[in-house]
Amino acid sequence: MYVNLRALRLLILLNDGMYHSVNSLAKYFRCSLASIYFLVIQLQKYNVDVVNIDGYGILLNKPIVWLDAELITRYISIESEKLELRLFDIIDSTNNYFLSQLKRNTLIKDLTSVAVAEFQTNGRGREGRIWRCGFGNGLLFSICWRFEKGVSNLSGLSLVVGIAILRVLRSYAIQNINIKWPNDILCNFHKLAGILIEIRGEVCGPSYAIIGIGINFNLSKSIIPLINQRATDLSSVTGDLINRNQVLGRLLSELYNVLNEFAYYGFSSFKKEWISYHSYEGCEVDLIFPNGLAITGIVDGVTDDGAICLLTLEGKKSFNIGNIAIRSRIH
Ligand code: BTN
Repeated sequence: MYVNLRALRLLILLNDGMYHSVNSLAKYFRCSLASIYFLVIQLQKYNVDVVNIDGYGILLNKPIVWLDAELITRYISIESEKLELRLFDIIDSTNNYFLSQLKRNTLIKDLTSVAVAEFQTNGRGREGRIWRCGFGNGLLFSICWRFEKGVSNLSGLSLVVGIAILRVLRSYAIQNINIKWPNDILCNFHKLAGILIEIRGEVCGPSYAIIGIGINFNLSKSIIPLINQRATDLSSVTGDLINRNQVLGRLLSELYNVLNEFAYYGFSSFKKEWISYHSYEGCEVDLIFPNGLAITGIVDGVTDDGAICLLTLEGKKSFNIGNIAIRSRIH
């Protein structure tokens, strides 16, 4: 999908939250009424909630607080020269962006790069799923982290990333926010955020982790029916619009700290904290394997490398991250 700059200019104009008549917009853009309708359709393709009400005009239902590199940097509490921030209006996927940078060998070794987008045309979730989020309605970003360790020493990484997200979101006093193993961020058992980590590199190191994070802030009406799981967003949970720039700045600082600690000590130093966030700790669950087989047990923590532990009829067993689905027998 190419970036329609005119559609973005229209979005900026509509962001004042006022009705704009199609005639006045056509005059402003020096184009036909049909072209304005075309731009509206284009915005709807980005899942922007624009409505056209006869007699009133065009209205943007939920104005967007734009991502702003200067503001994000203001909320970053580490030396910001260590991070390179790239903002995109529209991109296919922030994870894909780094995958191709790695392929082309164009990453700067001593910098941690972050790519953030207002909208992704090919947002990817775990296990081949699609990650959907309307333009400006969430945080969609990836951080590319270089580890001296090899690929096989990074188990538990996705759980540690979950900790960084939990710490930041809980600092906004959001109730009932938890992690579902391995790394689904839930609020009242509805998905609020997800993590997709893709690792590239050598067995003995160095290796690169592309850590993609999607957080729902203000899901548009048009996107909710397209998400095929129970989802929620920060604005419904808090009843307020939390500043995306602030959350991103704080999150990058927290990620920077936890990733450095993880590089040094591994997952074990985070284990206790992670277990305290697990929504299913002590609950009876079914683990469902890719071949359809399931095992039932009571969740009893995680191992030092992030595998989930279950008390089963055959004793305590641990299961490693893979395509395992975990279903609570209650929720
Ligand atoms: C999940 O399925 O729970 C993981 C979702 C991860 C989505 C994020 S959004 C930013 C980054 N770019 C992508 O294409 N995916 C991740």
